[in-house]
Amino acid sequence: MLVEIFPNYEALSNRAYEIVATELRRKPNCVLGFATGSTPLGLYQRLVEGYQRGELDFAKVVTFNLDEYVGLPPSHPQSYHYFMWENLFKHININPSNVHIPNGMVDDIEFHCEWYEEQIRRAGGIDLQILGIGPNGHLAFNEPGSSLGSRTRIKTLSRATIQANARFFGSLEAVPRYAITMGIGTIMEARKLLLLASGKAKARAVRAMLEGPISAMVPATIVQLHRFAHVLLDAEAASELE
Ligand code: F6R
Repeated sequence: MLVEIFPNYEALSNRAYEIVATELRRKPNCVLGFATGSTPLGLYQRLVEGYQRGELDFAKVVTFNLDEYVGLPPSHPQSYHYFMWENLFKHININPSNVHIPNGMVDDIEFHCEWYEEQIRRAGGIDLQILGIGPNGHLAFNEPGSSLGSRTRIKTLSRATIQANARFFGSLEAVPRYAITMGIGTIMEARKLLLLASGKAKARAVRAMLEGPISAMVPATIVQLHRFAHVLLDAEAASELE
């Protein structure tokens, strides 16, 4: 595992951009895994700027997002569909049929999850998966206690995650209780992982992820076992490391 620490979020986002841009140049038809949340926003803004400057071409890129809330239609401003289109996809030359985000509105969630896994396999697997980390150590919506071998499935959000995400919904009650998420086993099959963490609120989870024992109670600790895990931290997120 490679861990890099940067003085601030801007520097971290610049480095994340370099890594994704290098992957895109190396393999123009690469399969990218995307995360939502506040942490990758600096990266997504830079990807849009890189495209506008003519440095990046997404025409052949295939994408898979980690997760989506159950019960939110793509048009809902807090859905991850909406987030990805607003913050990235609508600004770049991605082919919409190459974009994959779990659909939280399907009737048969189990079938949909199996279909999603099949789409990842058919695309040849994920080349580079971008990840954030929850303050409770979650990876995607794999909350503490998730099986480390899990596949794409429906998960109940933990109380901590509902509280952390209430800021986006205006109230605790409005936060969905369930999400569809890639499993930890699914994430670990990506050829490379790029995990970003910024801010003091992540410092404890980052310490557990990098220095603690591997445990289903801190799902992000699994990245210790990945052959090509690259972790980018800002100084605050790294502040509790030994
Ligand atoms: C979102 C996701 C989540 C976030 C995590 C951190 O697709 O998978 O695990 O990465 O909750 O969120 P932020 O970046 O908002 O702190």
